[in-house]
Amino acid sequence: MALRDRGFHPLRVAQVVRETDEAATFVLEVPATFAYEAGQFCTFRVVVDGQELQRCYSMSSTPAEPFAVTVKRVSDGAVSNWLLDHVEAGDVLEASAPTGLFRLPPGDADVVALGAGSGITPIWAIVKHVLATTDRRVRLLYANRDRESTIFAKAIDALAGDRFEVVHHLDVEEGFVDADVVKPFADPAADTFVCGPGPFMDVVEATLLDAGVPADRIRIERFSAFGPVATVADELTSTVTIEVAGKTGSTEHHAGTTILQVARQLGLPAPSSCESGSCATCMAKLVGGEVHMRTNNALTPEEVEEGWILTCQSVPNSAEVRVVYE
Ligand SMILES: Cc1cc2nc3c(=O)[nH]c(=O)nc-3n(C[C@H](O)[C@H](O)[C@H](O)COP(=O)(O)OP(=O)(O)OC[C@H]3O[C@@H](n4cnc5c(N)ncnc54)[C@H](O)[C@@H]3O)c2cc1C
Ligand code: FES
Repeated sequence: MALRDRGFHPLRVAQVVRETDEAATFVLEVPATFAYEAGQFCTFRVVVDGQELQRCYSMSSTPAEPFAVTVKRVSDGAVSNWLLDHVEAGDVLEASAPTGLFRLPPGDADVVALGAGSGITPIWAIVKHVLATTDRRVRLLYANRDRESTIFAKAIDALAGDRFEVVHHLDVEEGFVDADVVKPFADPAADTFVCGPGPFMDVVEATLLDAGVPADRIRIERFSAFGPVATVADELTSTVTIEVAGKTGSTEHHAGTTILQVARQLGLPAPSSCESGSCATCMAKLVGGEVHMRTNNALTPEEVEEGWILTCQSVPNSAEVRVVYE
């Protein structure tokens, strides 16, 4: 029995706020079951050109504000473009209940946040929440291409003050973020949050770890996939059987492919979104055999204990593997 509500709920769009040329905030009317913590996200289900697609969007609002997600256009991206170009106030979107582990841990440590581009959405929610509900100090490094593409620029600057330091980094003026830019934000005693495009995250994570920030003080939210999943058992021959929506397929496993990729090879309609182990859209029940899960930033220990796996991160680790998407 899954611990989370994975059903989709209709949410009426109350308002669309254009933030920049490439980004908009969608204010949504949500049921009481959509309680959430700052930094969490929802999975949205949309139909684009007849194809059902699922994508995750973090709340840019705090729980004390009207419920809102902020979407930035991705070049040729199916869902971001559809949302930004078609959705208006009064429309209804479908989303599953909020979830996610990118949240403020308890305590009174200072908060350091490093965000870039659309990665500001969960970070902005956390920053506002920390400033409004705690005495903690916050330092934010916020990287963007230029000032015009900087989402929430005015609101962020308006909140800067004694407890909130903001450093804007604009690529057009200073080049891409490198270790020298990140180092001043390395604080081993702080709770650190990182969200942005892959190359930004790589530089930030490596620099923070190098500077002595413990890995367990760094919280990372990945918006998109980051390379192939390593196979732990390349020599192993596995037969993988997968059930999705009442359809079952079975095949020999090819080294290096995930359970999600096997489902696609079999032509099964397995759901997915981030493919980086962050969102749990691809979660399924392991009902036979063993898998190795490379990354898990989405399932709770209880869910793992119950046999749930992230199929985008899992490779077979036994001769027979059986997985059911529920
Ligand atoms: C937990 C989580 C929270 C997220 N929160 C937000 C949010 O608050 N706001 C937001 O705008 N997005 C957010 N995303 C990203 C979002 O889910 C989609 O991935 C994004 O909107 C692109 O989807 P698409 O259908 O437009 O592009 P797709 O059609 O999926 O992709 C088109 C191309 O763009 C590449 N691509 C995919 N995602 C990105 C990206 N983020 N940046 C650059 N290139 C990309 C793909 O590799 C592909 O080549 C979040 C993702 C996760 C996993
Ligand atoms: S698709 Fe997001 S965790 Fe697998």
